Amino acid sequence: MDRTLVIVKPDGVRRGLVGEVISRFEKKGFSIAALRLLSLDRNLVRDFYSPHLGKSFFPELEQFIISGPVVAMILEGANAVEVVRRMIGVTKSFEASSGTIRGDFGLGYTDNVVHASDSQESYSRESKIIFPDL
Ligand code: CMP
Repeated sequence: MDRTLVIVKPDGVRRGLVGEVISRFEKKGFSIAALRLLSLDRNLVRDFYSPHLGKSFFPELEQFIISGPVVAMILEGANAVEVVRRMIGVTKSFEASSGTIRGDFGLGYTDNVVHASDSQESYSRESKIIFPDL
C-alpha cells in the first residue's frame, strides 16, 4: 500500500487544528501507520528541508518550524502522495482552493498549516528523518 508523510506545522498545532487535519485524512480513507508529536531542532530542520537550504526564505522557514511542536504522521492508502498533496492545496495558503486544508484554514505562506511529501523519493527521504525507527 502507498504511503506518504504529513506534518502539522507549529501554526496548525498552536491553533488546535491537529484533530481536524487527521479527521480529513481518516474520512478520506487513509489509515495512520505512524504518529508522533515532536519538536524539530536546527539540525533536523536543515536535514529535512535540505532541498531549500540556501534559498532566501530558508531562515524564516527554519525559525518558524522550530517555534513549537509539530505532529508528524505516515498515512497509508492508494496513491497516497498524490491524493494527500491534492487535499492540502498549494503552498501559498492565500491561493489554495476552498476545500483544501490550506485553503480552508490559513492565509500564510511559510505558516501554511501542513507539509506533505511531494514525491515518492521525498517520502522515502523525509520519513527516514522523522521516523528513523520505522
Ligand atoms: P512546505 O510544503 O513545507 O515546503 C517548504 C516550505 O517553505 C513551504 O511549505 C513553506 O512553508 C515555506 N516557504 C516559504 N517561502 C517559500 C517560497 N518562496 N517557496 C516555497 N516555500 C516557501
